[in-house]
Amino acid sequence: MNILLIGSGGREHALAWKMKQSPLCERLFCAPSNAGIDEIAEKIELDVNDHRAVAAFCKGNNIGLVVVGPEAPLVDGLADSLIEVGIRVFGPSAQAAQLEGSKGFTKDICAKYDIPTAAYGRFGDEDAALEYLATQSAPIVVKADGLAAGKGVIMAQTMDEAIGAVKDIFGGMFGEAGAEVVIEEWLIGEEASFFALCDGTTAIPMATAQDHKRVGEGDTGPNTGGMGAYSPAPVMTEKMCQRTMDEIILPTVKAMNDMGAPFKGVFFAGLMITEKGPELIEYNVRFGDPECQVLMMRMDDDLVELLVACADGDLAGREIKWRNEAALSVVMAANGYPASYDKGSVIGNLDKAASDDAVEIFHAGTAKSDGVVTAIGGRVLNVTALGSSVYVAKEHAYSAVEKVNWPGGFYRRDIGWLAIEREQKQKG
Ligand code: AMP
Ligand code: GLY
Repeated sequence: MNILLIGSGGREHALAWKMKQSPLCERLFCAPSNAGIDEIAEKIELDVNDHRAVAAFCKGNNIGLVVVGPEAPLVDGLADSLIEVGIRVFGPSAQAAQLEGSKGFTKDICAKYDIPTAAYGRFGDEDAALEYLATQSAPIVVKADGLAAGKGVIMAQTMDEAIGAVKDIFGGMFGEAGAEVVIEEWLIGEEASFFALCDGTTAIPMATAQDHKRVGEGDTGPNTGGMGAYSPAPVMTEKMCQRTMDEIILPTVKAMNDMGAPFKGVFFAGLMITEKGPELIEYNVRFGDPECQVLMMRMDDDLVELLVACADGDLAGREIKWRNEAALSVVMAANGYPASYDKGSVIGNLDKAASDDAVEIFHAGTAKSDGVVTAIGGRVLNVTALGSSVYVAKEHAYSAVEKVNWPGGFYRRDIGWLAIEREQKQKG
């Protein structure tokens, strides 16, 4: 089968790498792609906002499956446009993608279906939001309702900060994404990510991960798209995973069906494991980046077969096989990230750095010309490794990171610290 992959990040490189291992995969195309994906897939020029052009490419190249990496094309209805003309897609409809596209949409489902989540209020105007705030106390969380590139969440330590955040959002700080505001109770606990595939009616658990959102070591500094991740997340015991399926994922599947918008794709549930158990912070409707990289390294199954089963409503009775090992990914980013960063710096020694069998280097913001790889994005490389424990995976990953010759980049040295602390405690 010929496959079209949409995206250009480390997530898509990991998906491409895993799909290429499937005997079902014949030609693999990618748009817009990156220098790493280009090594294993055919790069094509395609405007993914132009749904008719994407459909025409699929028809012309006998595409049997389209895999959409990022959320924006999904929220924009790319899956709907393609399915309408008979093209198989992995990824939800625009309506189902509202689970990520609107925080208020998801919170209302939680309220209606009794899904554990932070207490909240949802507001369409500033006065109502400020009135509600006056009945609450700090710390409290203020969120822009729509997609704000991961920046629409303000963790307010004081009421003044919360009031400022409400005014900023309604003042247009996040544009259209701030047309509504959600105000939430601040949950206390350990965060974890839970992934499940869903074919519209059947959902099956995938795996768990934890990421490091802050740019600085010790989880300090501004938020980023993610500076590293590992899988599995030790806090997600078998019991917590089962509770997450029963209390969060399955009720959501039902809610989407009741609404006439069955969810097909991957649920990426951001959880807070509180004293009461798993509570939903948010849904994403696509794989995490860099969480996907660690998931793909650990998956011991045919990804193409699974994605096709998802699209075809064929997941019932399936179970996904995983390696027993842990995986850990270190993000190498361009100097300056997440603020404005340098572009065009040269990256060397990648082949040698990736020579360890336990290591894969997934590319994110890279380009290649005349055989020279350069950095063109904020997050640039995801050095990912398997190991018998998170600690061992970390050793492999960092020994590869140190071999990469890239003076224009930086990375955190403490990815995995929380899991490793736990592993060491368990060993005594
Ligand atoms: P979101 O974009 O909704 O995932 O929020 C980004 C990050 O903000 C989460 O990963 C959490 O670290 C934090 N966060 C969001 N909502 C809450 C909440 N209600 N309580 C505590 N932390 C939160
Ligand atoms: N790493 C977080 C995300 O992909 O949203």
